[in-house]
Amino acid sequence: MSERGCLAVVLAAGEGTRMRSARPKVLHAVGNRSMIAHVVAAAEAAGAGRLAVVVGNGAEKVTAAVQALSPAAETFVQVERRGTAHAVLAAREALEAPADDVVVLCGDAPLVRPETIAAARTRLAEGADVVVVGFEAADPTGYGRLIVDGGRLVAIREDREASPAERMVRLCNSGILAFRGDRVLPLLDDISDDNAKREFYLTDAVAGANARGLKVEVVVAGEEEVLGVNDRAQLARCEAVFQARARAAALVAGATLIAPETVFFSTDTVLGRDVLVEPNVVFGPGVTVGEGAVIHAFSHLEGATVAAGASIGPFARLRPGAAIGAGARVGNFVEVKNATVEDGAKLNHLSYIGDARVGRAANVGAGTITCNYDGGSKHFTDIGAGAFIGSNSALVAPVTIGAGAYVGSGSVITDDVPPDALAIARGRQVVKEGRAGEIRARSKQRGGE
Ligand code: UD1
Ligand code: CA
Repeated sequence: MSERGCLAVVLAAGEGTRMRSARPKVLHAVGNRSMIAHVVAAAEAAGAGRLAVVVGNGAEKVTAAVQALSPAAETFVQVERRGTAHAVLAAREALEAPADDVVVLCGDAPLVRPETIAAARTRLAEGADVVVVGFEAADPTGYGRLIVDGGRLVAIREDREASPAERMVRLCNSGILAFRGDRVLPLLDDISDDNAKREFYLTDAVAGANARGLKVEVVVAGEEEVLGVNDRAQLARCEAVFQARARAAALVAGATLIAPETVFFSTDTVLGRDVLVEPNVVFGPGVTVGEGAVIHAFSHLEGATVAAGASIGPFARLRPGAAIGAGARVGNFVEVKNATVEDGAKLNHLSYIGDARVGRAANVGAGTITCNYDGGSKHFTDIGAGAFIGSNSALVAPVTIGAGAYVGSGSVITDDVPPDALAIARGRQVVKEGRAGEIRARSKQRGGE
């Protein structure tokens, strides 16, 4: 099959009015990746070497997103919305270039697996002319029914045109169809809009293929896999399915999730072997966690790398550009942004480390913050290897703390500290013997007046 050329046509013209959104429907995200990106990735994984995306609503934004995903993709604008066959034909130019297989996918059905697309292509390679991806619908209302007669798929009947008997059929059209490349244009050009919606139904290609004596087959997928999104509730359902898949994949790959249903992944989250994830952790986009690291409860990570054996949280926040070294510890209520925390360094409690380097095995005491922003721009803090920053210090960037240096607790450090030096920058303590008793006496007297 790999030598067969495949064109994927992705329908992404949907109006998405029920999303009630300024954003085009297919650009809404599942697992922190747009739905169209999921579909494009599945098509590519199934061997589609060419991609044609049919856009309509929000054409400019969708086109830009598609170009960013796959620079070689062609986009076509469906100006008038006259049905699914009409939408596919908007990509006529792409369809005219020879392809062994043409696969039609929906940009608003993000959960399709590459294996399913590949299964349809295998049927084409084995001699089918048209392959429909079907599914058993729990409630088939609204879907096109697959009309099977003597084991052959003879037609797809849209809900509005179906007879009461046909409405009982639960095997439905997912909207994903595959065609032998040289059959697609003749079949589509034959479709009329003589139906309830006065639309050109792509599904009529099935009856057309039968009339020409062509071979039409069905590949059955799970209902979850072909869920389409028309509103926010369906988007949330897709997200739930995505998360269930991501959790299962993480477990298979050798991570321990103590309460999998409370951990949220992004499409690109990577967990190494023997990573332990405690309950209620959120992985935003761009997170990689190395072998044996522990992500304690209630931590939120995005755009971050965590090296092997590091410990994060509980209640830690890693923001974009956080790179946590091997065996390092980022404890409770610590936020790290755009900062490298080198191997074995410790930031155990209540800190903000932004735009910084924390050197190897340095210790940053509780409550320490980098003052990285002066209201105009951001500045860098460099903490050398093995440095010890006393609790509740403020490091006013730009500033460098040399390797092995000590900073006294409660310091406000505005000047560089040389390696192995001690810096203390706070008011000196004053002790006044007996003053506490005097104060108490005075306040008692006031209370008595
Ligand atoms: C379609 C199928 C139906 C199937 C169902 C699965 C047809 C005629 N019907 O029905 O058999 O069970 O999907 O969800 O194909 N689109 C365009 N331009 C158009 C019309 C549609 O781009 O002019 C896109 C839509 O944005 C959507 C997809 O094609 O992504 C399906 O169109 P929709 O109108 O939702 O078709 P359904 O009636 O749901
Ligand atoms: Ca639909």
